[in-house]
Amino acid sequence: MIAPGGARVLVSEDNDALRRGVVLALTEAGHRVDAVARGDAALTQLRDAAPYDVVLTDLRLPGADGMAILRAARERDARTAIVVMTAFGTVEAAVEAMREGAFDFVQKPLELDALELRVARAVEHARLVGEVRDLRAERAARNAPERIVGCSPALRAAVDLATRAAPSRATVLITGETGTGKELVAGLIHGLSPRAQRAFVKVNCAALPETLLESELFGHERGAFTGADRVRVGRFEQADGGTLFLDEVGDMSPATQAKVLRVLQEREFQRLGGVQTLRSDVRIVTATNQDLETAIAEGRFREDLYFRLNVIGVRLPPLRERPEDVAPLAEHLIGEFGRELGRPRLGFTRAALEKLAGHAWPGNVRELRNAVERAMLMAEGDWIGPDDLVLAPAAPRGGAGGELGPEGFSLADMEREVVLAALRRSGFVQKAAAELLGVSRRKLNYMIGRMGITHPSWRRHRTAGDGTGGEPAGASLDSASDLP
Ligand SMILES: Nc1ncnc2c1ncn2[C@@H]1O[C@H](COP(=O)(O)OP(=O)(O)OP(=O)(O)O)[C@@H](O)[C@H]1O
Ligand SMILES: [Mg+2]
Repeated sequence: MIAPGGARVLVSEDNDALRRGVVLALTEAGHRVDAVARGDAALTQLRDAAPYDVVLTDLRLPGADGMAILRAARERDARTAIVVMTAFGTVEAAVEAMREGAFDFVQKPLELDALELRVARAVEHARLVGEVRDLRAERAARNAPERIVGCSPALRAAVDLATRAAPSRATVLITGETGTGKELVAGLIHGLSPRAQRAFVKVNCAALPETLLESELFGHERGAFTGADRVRVGRFEQADGGTLFLDEVGDMSPATQAKVLRVLQEREFQRLGGVQTLRSDVRIVTATNQDLETAIAEGRFREDLYFRLNVIGVRLPPLRERPEDVAPLAEHLIGEFGRELGRPRLGFTRAALEKLAGHAWPGNVRELRNAVERAMLMAEGDWIGPDDLVLAPAAPRGGAGGELGPEGFSLADMEREVVLAALRRSGFVQKAAAELLGVSRRKLNYMIGRMGITHPSWRRHRTAGDGTGGEPAGASLDSASDLP
């Protein structure tokens, strides 16, 4: 809001000499200054002119007093910082003005140097308030439902459910394959909730081993375990008043599950190594690409926790179940990347669209994003052709194009085959394979572990006695790998 040409300042002061002095000083300091001698003129100015960054006003003025000006300025634009000038010995009036939302006050007789400094601070304040407001608006816009592209009934039903659930405090469990937009929907729920202005705190439960995850969630006291050399405030505390998003919630250990369940039931918890009972007002949203009902049947996930988390269950359909969303998403992505890459006029040829429509998208929208971004970088003219689109080979059983044969096919098998294909193509270098698949390296690593895929080149990094059944090296999370 504050233009490079300095801040916009309104001065209202009835003493002519003083007013001229102030105007001169502030103009010399680089500000654009309007000045009035009467209170009613200041009110007119506040109503008719563009909002000011700073209003510098005397408290006692003919026509309308400083308090009325203060209120009018605040109403006009919450970003405006108001500095009141008070006569010597009228501190109570200044205190009252501060209570009504003035940013600062200065006492007469004025020292112009000091005044300049106070105005500079007020300008900075106005700038920050404006910035916060813009960021909030941007965040709200980012989380607006329109950003979730696609009009297939399956997607719309999921988004509608999330939208209806948003205003309440109910826990929401978002399920869906990788890249289907679970995190996007979690953000939407927060953005449409009364907590939108408060924190949105995300924890990836798959990324950390048990002890670290618990200290991440609940915090720890000093000395709670080796290496805990200072107090740490956990995510539950940080999210107080806001939303806590537990991603990959299916990957929590049984012990952590028990602790999270306790917070949900009793709304209280302790830091690791702490005795004090803490409370936090959080709304919990969780996501997983695991089938939690199977996990329950296999004894890996607590049923009681599942019921607590799944008060509202939002299932995001994979892209191959909603082929009508592919083209609108691709067009949306072209627009988005086009602005970033400075290539706003690119379009798909019909053959390219057909190629997109025929693909099975095992990595869902994320895979589509990556394919479109790459194609835009490769395309030479104004059109993206089929050859610009590099798609990972999918190998669905029972027919091409995702059609089911008589015996159907197993999604798990298909996923495994795609992962293997990508690994083979990248010489079993996980980072490269992850890029091919459009997932994070961490995610691929986790999938590899779950699928029990191993490769000789990974083995030499493995720690002795690793009984986790095929967790490849590089799997271990850098610094976290040595912890219990
Ligand atoms: N309907 C949609 N409209 C626009 N963008 C989408 C949509 N669905 C997903 N995306 C985009 O696709 C990418 C992947 O989405 P997101 O990270 O939310 O997936 P996810 O389900 O959390 O995946 P994972 O299980 O791998 O963590 C993001 O860049 C997201 O913005
Ligand atoms: Mg995610």
